[in-house]
Amino acid sequence: MSATSPRLACTLCGIPLLNPVLAASGTFAYGGEFASIVDLNSAGGIVVKGLSAAPIEGNRPPRIWETHGGMMNSIGLQNIGVRAFVREKLPGLRGLRTKVFANVFGYAPEDYLEVIRVLEDAEGLAGYELNVSCPNTKHGGMFFSSDPALLSSLVTAVKKLRPKRPLIVKLSPNVASIAVIAKAAEDAGADAVSLVNTFVALAVDARTRRPRIGAGFGGLSGPAIKPIALRMVYEAAQAVKIPVIGLGGIASGEDAAEFLVAGASAVEVGTASFWDPRAVVRIADELDSFLAKEGVAAVSSLVGTLRFQRD
Ligand SMILES: Cc1cc2nc3c(=O)[nH]c(=O)nc-3n(C[C@H](O)[C@H](O)[C@H](O)COP(=O)(O)O)c2cc1C
Repeated sequence: MSATSPRLACTLCGIPLLNPVLAASGTFAYGGEFASIVDLNSAGGIVVKGLSAAPIEGNRPPRIWETHGGMMNSIGLQNIGVRAFVREKLPGLRGLRTKVFANVFGYAPEDYLEVIRVLEDAEGLAGYELNVSCPNTKHGGMFFSSDPALLSSLVTAVKKLRPKRPLIVKLSPNVASIAVIAKAAEDAGADAVSLVNTFVALAVDARTRRPRIGAGFGGLSGPAIKPIALRMVYEAAQAVKIPVIGLGGIASGEDAAEFLVAGASAVEVGTASFWDPRAVVRIADELDSFLAKEGVAAVSSLVGTLRFQRD
């Protein structure tokens, strides 16, 4: 069974993928750093670390805290900046058959537009993933991801640039109704949505009476969030017609299959890469074994097949 089996071949927003298992942003560096550990050409795709217009140093430590079945992080979106990415990292990724997606973020719509403009001039990318889980500092710190109007104006502004690559909007789970937010992204022109980003959380050291994370709150990820992520992916897939990419706690091929059944057309693997740097390819291998055992000839036929109502 293999990550490159024809059973796993699929398309996402018209992009052909070897398999539907992608590395999630922020957990796979800029891709090339993993080249000596895992065969990058067996991954369905790589979403690189979030890119901003200018480099960002990130938050003060501690930035990571392990929890039961997961981890919390508050990296503070540390990255080398989009221009250094294009200059130093992208050339090494161009020879890959694996599709590379740029994750983009900002603190005002102009920041996002600047990053996309730089990337538009570069070769070697398959698409953009917009991380909207950021506060709009020009709008009272309101999160793009939690206000449908704010999200809509951001996605509309990006689409107005007529980007030559598909636009995936990555949604935050820290909202009351994911269906409303997913629909707002679709109506504004998103080509796909991905979800979930991390859940805002707090870890406390009762002895020092301080948060365990230097910045205070952190984002919870890993297997602990999987059932909530699955519920949200199902709700989003019910609300929109564009493809949904599911993530949140995926650690095995069967986990990936669960997200596909719930309505995801592809999945991303994040925290699992921290304890198993080969997780993305291993999970694709395992998904292929799962399909073989279940007698499923093409992975796409699994998508959205959840029989939600009991017979
Ligand atoms: C250390 C760390 C850094 C992350 N950085 C980013 C980022 O730069 N951009 C982004 O959209 N998501 C980022 N994420 C969120 C992940 O891509 C993913 O949405 C989340 O962790 C849930 O998936 P998982 O449970 O498989 O990790 C980060 C997550 C972690 C753990």
